[in-house]
Amino acid sequence: MNKASPNNGKAIWQPTTILAPVPAVMVTCKGNEGRPNIITIAWVGTVCSEPPMLSISVRPERYSYQLIKETGEFVVNLADRQTAKATDLCGVISGRDHDKFHETGLSIGRSTTLKTPIIMECPINIECKVEKELALGSHNMFIARITAVQISQQLVDDKGCLHIENAALVGFAHGHYYQLGKQIGQFGFSVKKN
Ligand SMILES: Cc1cc2nc3c(=O)[nH]c(=O)nc-3n(C[C@H](O)[C@H](O)[C@H](O)COP(=O)(O)O)c2cc1C
Repeated sequence: MNKASPNNGKAIWQPTTILAPVPAVMVTCKGNEGRPNIITIAWVGTVCSEPPMLSISVRPERYSYQLIKETGEFVVNLADRQTAKATDLCGVISGRDHDKFHETGLSIGRSTTLKTPIIMECPINIECKVEKELALGSHNMFIARITAVQISQQLVDDKGCLHIENAALVGFAHGHYYQLGKQIGQFGFSVKKN
């Protein structure tokens, strides 16, 4: 039961997955046979810089779980304003009985290092190979090495710099989707001299 704290006036909640915002991404996966699938994942995060690695947590009962287990690979496709509705749809229907590429109208593109396809409409596609799996409880975490990254040309300037502020990326917080908004600083701005 949630109750008010006697000490500092904050509401005290039971332990829950409140970390926010988190990305809501579309993860593509494909078994050795059959069509490619898309699963929406919010339990995703960067876990290592060198080598570059990320994790996704997937419930074993998901159809996508079997596909990722089979091939040991997946692609994390970042959602933006344009692909937000498709992101939600891929999180409420199953690839067991739906062709999600067909139903969302999203287009299949080639990975550079994997057999799993990317989603062309997503601004950033992160190709991943699974290195470890951890059974945590409701979810199994796949820890994966990033083998390649594809970025939409519109986000990269002539000098090769990424302008992620133009991507209109989507965040997810407590059951709601948000479009990433105003930039309020940059790495190290707290100590930067004017
Ligand atoms: C915003 C959002 C985030 C989600 N995050 C996760 C997640 O992190 N892990 C998970 O196993 N399922 C998550 N789901 C649920 C799956 O996307 C959903 O069960 C989906 O239909 C599974 O597809 P599949 O059966 O084709 O694998 C999420 C759904 C939504 C809408």
